[in-house]
Amino acid sequence: MGTNRVTGLHHITLCTGTAQGDIDFFVKVMGQRFVKRTLFYDGSIPIYHLYFADQLGTPGTVMTTFPTRRAGIKGRRGSNQFTTVSYSIPKGSLAWWVKHLSNHSILTTEPRERFGQAFVGFEHPDCGIAFEVVEDANDQRVPWESEYVPVEHAVRGFHSWTASVNEMEDMDWFMHNAWNFEKIGQEGAMARYRVQGDDGPGKIIDVLHEPGKRQGSWTISEGIIHHGAFAVPDMDVQAQLKFDTEGMGFTDFSDRKNRGYFESIYVRTPGGVMFEATHSLGFTHDEPEETLGTDLKVSPQFDDKKELIKQAMLDDPIAV
Ligand SMILES: [Fe+2]
Repeated sequence: MGTNRVTGLHHITLCTGTAQGDIDFFVKVMGQRFVKRTLFYDGSIPIYHLYFADQLGTPGTVMTTFPTRRAGIKGRRGSNQFTTVSYSIPKGSLAWWVKHLSNHSILTTEPRERFGQAFVGFEHPDCGIAFEVVEDANDQRVPWESEYVPVEHAVRGFHSWTASVNEMEDMDWFMHNAWNFEKIGQEGAMARYRVQGDDGPGKIIDVLHEPGKRQGSWTISEGIIHHGAFAVPDMDVQAQLKFDTEGMGFTDFSDRKNRGYFESIYVRTPGGVMFEATHSLGFTHDEPEETLGTDLKVSPQFDDKKELIKQAMLDDPIAV
């Protein structure tokens, strides 16, 4: 299997609490740019879909959220789902981040090291999802110049995401054979995987083996990570990835779905962690670069439901 398949992390999608809680955390604490406000493209409840990233929404920097509290469904964190989002920060920035998070009343764990890199853990204050900032000396990605975080300390994008699984053996097989990742390390119950032969930033998945841990929710429900999306270079590679993965027995690979800003396909990995393989269409085809994220872009199934949208905006107001 060639390496011109899955090229790295693309975006991760969280079911959070409120739109304002996400603005306050991702923009004002994590220092990301609010690049798009749209709606969930599935179903009949107009839940916001918010995007936070670098200046243009480069793959590997894109956080997407469904503020789910207004739908009234609570999720259960657990195994067989993504559990933690880790942002990459420059080496030497960890102490600044501990203080910055503390200034926003966000508690951090004691600094520790994993695979030789220092990090601290903390929670999204509005919905409890786990986050980390990890020092990475080799991440040269250009950060968004936020008014809330000095550029010398700014997050560079995703360092890695962690998934919890009950069965390691099958997931290991999937990572190597379906997803062209290779195992590059093991610390305790955690195995580290990276895109085969690629040591650039935003290429890492950690898989934590938790055999006795209860299954987490798969529904769109507050407080869980719904799925992680990986970048593919084009739709031909995407079609081939689906074809080959189906040939391995994963017949539940979805058809291609247009998500406005990506073309996406979804598959349940052996334990159930949901992976997406996505091709970027960019964020500037319906809004200029300067004003990204300022206008609500209504998803197709709500085109003729203006009253519903108005109510959603009243129920879950946004002030940037
Ligand atoms: Fe996605």
